[in-house]
Amino acid sequence: MAPTFATLFLLIGASGLAAAHGGGSNAHGGVDVGAGPGTIGAQFPPYLGGNSPWFPGPDVNNIPNQPPAGCSVDMAAFTSRHGSRYPDPGSYNGWVALQTKIQSAPKFQAQGSLKFISTWKPVLRNPELELSLVSLGGYKELYDMGYTYRTRYPQLYSENQTFLAWANMYQANQPRVVDSARLFVRGYVGPDSTTRGSVYVLNNTDPRGVANSLAPSDLCPMYKDTSGGINATTWNDIYLPKVTARLNKLIGPHSALNFTTSEVSQFPVLCGFESQITGTRSPFCDVFTKDELRDFEYAQDIRYYYGAGPGAVKNSTFMLPFLSAVVSRFVDGPDKEYTSSKSSAPYKLPPLIATFSNDGQINQLASNIGVFDDQAPLPPTHIPRDQKYIASNFVTMRGTITFERLTCGGKGDPYVRILLNDAVYPVVGCDSGPGRSCPLKQYEKIVAKKQKDSGSFVENCFGAKASGAEQSLAAEGLQAKTTFLTDINLPWEYVVQP
Ligand SMILES: *[C@@H]1O[C@H](CO)[C@@H](O)[C@H](O)[C@H]1NC(C)=O
Ligand SMILES: *[C@@H]1O[C@H](CO)[C@@H](O)[C@H](O)[C@H]1NC(C)=O
Ligand SMILES: *[C@@H]1O[C@H](CO)[C@@H](O)[C@H](O)[C@H]1NC(C)=O
Ligand SMILES: *[C@@H]1O[C@H](CO)[C@@H](O)[C@H](O)[C@H]1NC(C)=O
Ligand SMILES: *[C@@H]1O[C@H](CO)[C@@H](O)[C@H](O)[C@H]1NC(C)=O
Repeated sequence: MAPTFATLFLLIGASGLAAAHGGGSNAHGGVDVGAGPGTIGAQFPPYLGGNSPWFPGPDVNNIPNQPPAGCSVDMAAFTSRHGSRYPDPGSYNGWVALQTKIQSAPKFQAQGSLKFISTWKPVLRNPELELSLVSLGGYKELYDMGYTYRTRYPQLYSENQTFLAWANMYQANQPRVVDSARLFVRGYVGPDSTTRGSVYVLNNTDPRGVANSLAPSDLCPMYKDTSGGINATTWNDIYLPKVTARLNKLIGPHSALNFTTSEVSQFPVLCGFESQITGTRSPFCDVFTKDELRDFEYAQDIRYYYGAGPGAVKNSTFMLPFLSAVVSRFVDGPDKEYTSSKSSAPYKLPPLIATFSNDGQINQLASNIGVFDDQAPLPPTHIPRDQKYIASNFVTMRGTITFERLTCGGKGDPYVRILLNDAVYPVVGCDSGPGRSCPLKQYEKIVAKKQKDSGSFVENCFGAKASGAEQSLAAEGLQAKTTFLTDINLPWEYVVQP
């Protein structure tokens, strides 16, 4: 039998990876890129895609994430997925069904890495109070995130300043995104966050919010996340039967219990969720070998790439108005004042623009920022050699896309730099600046071209219903454009305290 990831981890742990919980800290108060498994209290394999607790992305481009020499960050903007959470009801029901199947099997004994399975039970203690919400692992990720951004960019916030962040409402009964923003603000601002901080919640289902929320695709009848469709099926049919056959051989007597491929595909999911919920490494993390985990990860890559990513026609374009708004704020610079629609008092953006949303939006945004433009389409039949688009490196829980505005040598034209889960990714075709950053003026053109090439937002979003949607917007005096960063009085947003 091939060594499990756990054995490999022990073998390389001393040299390759920081062994301590929480990873290594660097002088900048951040976690070293690739240095550790994240901030939750358990180690887990870094191949879990969208089911992964957060960890600092590996430095795949060999670029230190400290600002390049002679440069400083005078504005930053990030869009983050909510932190680690409890499962949604559908997944949880699957866990309960798995337990029921195991418990009702004829007497059996499992060997090796499956030894624990006969007594396994789902780790939720009060499902009715937990489902879909941010978990304890998520609390820690978000507080740590607030602390990390405050210490990484001390110049972007001073004691006693007000601070605001934005969150996608998501679903009224599932406040995980709003709660994530609140917890981040607590970690960032500290004990005064309830009086100094606010979270602006954008209603993603209000029809006035066309192109003007943190989940614009939620209003789009033409948006469909296929979860990878036929290509996901093709890959699952290649890798899962082998793993399933191997694992079913660990059950004795033979055939007392047969796991299906679909059950087996949930084992790495359980690894991620159980580890972040309990703070202890889940036994499911040691069931797949390292190669099998990499195959599982690739299923996640296909799921996102063809679901609503670069391989999903125009389904990935709906965050472009938001991207364009971020770029405009960087062009305006940190001192610009704005006037909101219902107020005459000038308003200044915090120099750290903090926004929170969901995995679909992180994937859409990541697909259009220019860092994956040289990624050849992912083959559904095998893992390609030069793969850059890897879901585990940015669609994790609390997965974060960060933009930094750099000024170098004191004055001159600024640059923009992009980080995915703390690792720097150069913009393809625009890396002439210090540390392979992109001159902001050039990035502005790249984003404008992407918007132009994607065509009309309203047509992509509403298809045959586009003209009706245009008319409804015009009747309200609105445009399909992201203004929420500069107008903090929109009627489809409300404020909650951290
Ligand atoms: C802190 O802010 C409060 C209200 O925003 C103000 O009354 C107070 O004077 C400030 N304290 C300092 C030391 O600036
Ligand atoms: C969000 O918008 C929808 C559609 O207009 C509305 O039904 C719902 O009440 C709004 N939710 C909140 C919390 O304002
Ligand atoms: C498992 O599969 C084998 C072969 O298909 C079958 O004979 C056996 O009855 C199955 N076991 C259970 C518990 O369903
Ligand atoms: C989204 O994907 C679906 C399924 O592939 C496709 O029918 C639809 O046209 C896509 N929508 C856009 C806006 O590209
Ligand atoms: C499946 O992958 C192929 C190869 O990249 C691609 O051309 C095709 O559009 C994909 N199909 C779907 C439904 O996404």
